[in-house]
Amino acid sequence: MIFYFSGTGNTKWAAEQLALSTGDVLKYIPDELNKTGNEGAGLVYQLQQGERLGFCFPTHGWQPPRIVREFIRRATFLSPSSPLPYIYALTTCGDNMGHAMRIFNKELGKKGLHTDAAFAIVMPESNVCFSFLHLDTPERVHQKIESAKGRLRHICEVVGNRQCGVEELVKGAIPYTYTYVIGGYYNKHLITDQHFWVDEEACIKCGLCAKLCPVDDIEGTPPQWKHDGSCTNCLACYHHCPRHAIHWGKMKRGQYVFSE
Ligand SMILES: Cc1cc2nc3c(=O)[nH]c(=O)nc-3n(C[C@H](O)[C@H](O)[C@H](O)COP(=O)(O)O)c2cc1C
Repeated sequence: MIFYFSGTGNTKWAAEQLALSTGDVLKYIPDELNKTGNEGAGLVYQLQQGERLGFCFPTHGWQPPRIVREFIRRATFLSPSSPLPYIYALTTCGDNMGHAMRIFNKELGKKGLHTDAAFAIVMPESNVCFSFLHLDTPERVHQKIESAKGRLRHICEVVGNRQCGVEELVKGAIPYTYTYVIGGYYNKHLITDQHFWVDEEACIKCGLCAKLCPVDDIEGTPPQWKHDGSCTNCLACYHHCPRHAIHWGKMKRGQYVFSE
């Protein structure tokens, strides 16, 4: 089984490639969380004998997205053999992922689990929430996707062979500072729908933002955010808007959605 989350499609593409190569079943984390309703009980997954367990998620603020951590907390993975057969995780990031995998493994650890193999792939940037960051140019997007294809072929091989003790991460120069200081602030204060707003003249009321929101945080056309604490700040609403009518704070940035 492969569980994934994705806002702008990078991780979805990577997870789909892994599923194609391994034949493992792909599951979208928001759909899984929805199965239990807001107050839902734990989610129980029964793995087959020897079945691999994979997790794919984007790095958000040098940490795993909140929705991914919530899923791990609520999920139970049962396997006919103990310990679990083979566990791997892949994060996609625009630049570097800091200690995101350490935090992910800490969540897994609470379930008595740990990754046998962990990977990062640098992919096109989707963050428009930091003033010091800009989206990639079309040329850079192309380069990153081409190089990601090669990385992914290698990762599929490693996972296919169930190689253990593999850690191919892109932690960056000062991962502790980014993850726990800057990322700590970001994850505490900026994962919120409070900064989104819509240009009502540009909005064509297509409802795509509400349809794509993984946590059902948007209602109506033009969109209204519910401010109910569910937003995971994946920016799917912002990036997929066909008229770029959705904005985040005062930042003037472009849009990005994965396409090959
Ligand atoms: C809110 C937010 C925070 C992000 N934080 C980071 C980060 O800390 N480090 C990084 O390299 N990329 C960061 N990114 C970029 C994404 O990790 C990267 O673009 C990823 O591939 C997006 O995956 P997706 O298309 O599956 O959503 C961030 C993106 C968003 C939207």
